[in-house]
Amino acid sequence: MELPLELIWNSLPIILEGALHTLEITLIAISLGFILGLFAGLARLSKKRVVRLLATCYVDFFRGTPLLVQIFMVYFGLPQLLGSFQNFMMDTFHIAQIWESTHINPFPAAIISTSLNSGAYIAEIFRAGVQSIERGQMEAARSLGMTHIQAMRFVILPQAFKRIIPPLGNEFIAMLKDTSLLSVIGFEEMARRGQLIIAQTYKPFHIWLTVAFIYLIMTFAISRLVDYMERRLKAGDDR
Ligand code: ARG
Repeated sequence: MELPLELIWNSLPIILEGALHTLEITLIAISLGFILGLFAGLARLSKKRVVRLLATCYVDFFRGTPLLVQIFMVYFGLPQLLGSFQNFMMDTFHIAQIWESTHINPFPAAIISTSLNSGAYIAEIFRAGVQSIERGQMEAARSLGMTHIQAMRFVILPQAFKRIIPPLGNEFIAMLKDTSLLSVIGFEEMARRGQLIIAQTYKPFHIWLTVAFIYLIMTFAISRLVDYMERRLKAGDDR
């Protein structure tokens, strides 16, 4: 019989590799989400109604439905959509079937679902950040002869960015934990690795405790890093 500590020690390499996948997918989701969020957030402030409407639909949909459902939609739903498209092409142009599957690979499904989801949350962070900058900043920049885009790029966004670091940090931490939902499509992040080990060892308590502890270390490290960045940027203001 394996002692608990021995069990944890032996499982550690598998769990830690899962932790690496967790970190990897979180970084990808937040990076792509950042870009999506920047554009969607600015689109929500656009003067054009259609642009505003499209961005609002995107944000509302991805914030208003569970990430779990979005993951299933991408993993099982996307192939069906592609399949229908293929059928249409086959019927109209009489081309041969080139592809058949009920689901896509977990990794691309993980990237697509988490990035789209994070983008919606980050869009709201950007929008709030930009709106928090005093109107006078835009007016002053425009009166110096800058275009609206230049004023955004060189005056408003740099100031907004400082202010949104704490909420961005929150989103990072939330996403890191929420990637555990990806275990449902068999993506082997840390929670999935934990499940797999428990299926073989029947020791849920020790394994989940270990998994929880490693999540805690990761989120704690991120929150300290965010605090540090916030202080560094503040120091710049006080000079
Ligand atoms: N838990 C919420 C859900 O299931 C939010 C998931 C996304 N979290 C995030 N930080 N982007 O919908």
